[in-house]
Amino acid sequence: MENKIKLADLTFRPFIPAARIEEAVANVAEQINAKYVELAKSAKQPPIVLGVLNGSFVFLADLVRHFDFLCEICFVKLSSYSGCCTTGDVRQLIGLNCSLKGRDVIVVEDIVDTGVSITHLVADLQRHEVASSAICTLFYKPKSYKGAVTIDYAAMEIGSEFIVGYGLDYNELGREFKDIYIVDNE
Ligand code: IMP
Ligand code: MG
Repeated sequence: MENKIKLADLTFRPFIPAARIEEAVANVAEQINAKYVELAKSAKQPPIVLGVLNGSFVFLADLVRHFDFLCEICFVKLSSYSGCCTTGDVRQLIGLNCSLKGRDVIVVEDIVDTGVSITHLVADLQRHEVASSAICTLFYKPKSYKGAVTIDYAAMEIGSEFIVGYGLDYNELGREFKDIYIVDNE
């Protein structure tokens, strides 16, 4: 892994190497296959993979290439963060642009922290009368989570630390890194 990186005013150090992320992605994809290969056979229409932009774009691209069932892919854009602190106020920036009614939806998130974003999104899905919904996230911060929504698939659990890379950003920077970096407080 490369050494420390500087993004705006913060320094980050290597935390999770790309190889470990790859393993975790393959593993969570197998868990999803275990349920959705069968489900997709009996459903009238293929499941919809709903990526939450911007952070999920790298994870989603790697995840769906492990799937052993046909799926449709669409995106929604949410934002609840400013810098490295949640504002507690979720703005839905780009609404759903596909019909979800009666569909089996797999929501793909980069990271579930307090749960504010996912709670908002799941309420939205219910209004769209989906047949079923499941949440899949690359990272899950169980110590910060205050939501009531079940996180069905979490590739990796971490503490409450702030991380960047593999789609995750600090003020829109750092998404392009293959590895995950953590704030360096030294
Ligand atoms: P929540 O609404 O508090 O669960 O926050 C979820 C969103 O906040 C995620 O989709 C990320 O965009 C962002 N977020 C939370 N923790 C981190 C982090 O450690 N690094 C980068 N973004 C984060
Ligand atoms: Mg985000």
